[in-house]
Amino acid sequence: MVDIPIKSLYLHYPFCKNLCNYCDFYKGLPSPELEDQFEDLFKSMFEKHDEILRDQDCTWSSLSTLYIGGGTPSLWGEKGAKLLSQELEKRQINLEKDCEFTIEVNPGDWDRESIDAWMKIGVNRFSVGIQSLDSTFLKVLDRVHSIDEVYETLELFKELNVNYSVDFMLGLPFSKQYKRDVIKELEEILEYGPTHISLYILTVKDNYKHFEDLPDDEFIEREYLSVSKYLKSKGFDHYEVSNFAKTQELDRRSKHNLNYWRMESVAAIGPSATGFLADRKYRYKWKTKSDDIITEVLSDKEYLMEKLYMSLRINEGLDINFFNDEKLKDLAFDLEKRDLAQVVNEKIILTSKGFLILDSIMDDIFKIYANRL
Ligand SMILES: C[S@@+](CC[C@H](N)C(=O)[O-])C[C@H]1O[C@@H](n2cnc3c(N)ncnc32)[C@H](O)[C@@H]1O
Ligand code: SF4
Repeated sequence: MVDIPIKSLYLHYPFCKNLCNYCDFYKGLPSPELEDQFEDLFKSMFEKHDEILRDQDCTWSSLSTLYIGGGTPSLWGEKGAKLLSQELEKRQINLEKDCEFTIEVNPGDWDRESIDAWMKIGVNRFSVGIQSLDSTFLKVLDRVHSIDEVYETLELFKELNVNYSVDFMLGLPFSKQYKRDVIKELEEILEYGPTHISLYILTVKDNYKHFEDLPDDEFIEREYLSVSKYLKSKGFDHYEVSNFAKTQELDRRSKHNLNYWRMESVAAIGPSATGFLADRKYRYKWKTKSDDIITEVLSDKEYLMEKLYMSLRINEGLDINFFNDEKLKDLAFDLEKRDLAQVVNEKIILTSKGFLILDSIMDDIFKIYANRL
């Protein structure tokens, strides 16, 4: 039997200089001791991962995408670039010629030497966490960087003329009271030439410190739809619920995340990181303090349900014959009438308005197909 090649890898770096008050991702404050512990853990996770692949009859292939997320991986710097190269070399894992290699960068948490070190080992895409270009909101979120550092970071990427994405957030506390102007902020960001924007609606728990100051749903809907309209008018394709990309000259959609949304294999290493081996329907999540994993094998029903959900998240759409019956066609027709979807080449493709209520559309589908899902 030939082993199944794995071509995408996610790495999680779990430290941030400061903890933003809304963030639930796995991360902590760094110290020399904790960083050493993490690097040891990272190496042993890599080794354990070799076993996982062997057990699942998979094997490393040349990578077509590599993504380092966090946390704040730009803090890892030259040390991280060196360690990662060593681990890849040990296993003779090469990067394909046009491998999309992304690292997340926080304003104020990088220096030129480390950016150069990452580019030297193949990084060709950056994801920059801006969230807002208004210093008032950076403070509200406890973002540790200054607005000057934000501009400095945008200047760097403009000057380097590299492919980069910007993370931007909507639905921020006090948006109504302080009359946040998201279009004005984005207008200015676009002057620096990002090729991709990730647009996240702030999601928090009930005990969030600014819970009472969050805008209402109607406000957030208006923000989301106006940003979507604006970005589309600037040549960005709204290709996933929270993602926009330039696609005219070069396709700047995130290849790595598309693998995830298309439910293809994406390996993962790092505390809390989750990987998926598609042919085995095998999902594994790393524990945070040891090189142990929690695993699950998706049943056919679970796989079907996730595939359905993922197809609707991206504008490649859901096959209208997914269930081989007429009921989905009726639903699609109804969604079209309400400007929530379009049917193109037998695919149900949600509009931006549809993306906004994806969960309720999924509920409708569950109701219709309760016995099959
Ligand atoms: C986990 S962060 C890592 C990137 C980087 N550390 C940063 O802060 O920009 C990835 C992105 O997730 C988004 N994010 C984090 N917490 C969120 C939340 N509670 N609701 C919505 N988006 C969130 C932010 O836009 C952030 O840029
Ligand atoms: S810097 Fe990024 S990962 Fe770290 S706490 Fe803030 S949002 Fe979360």
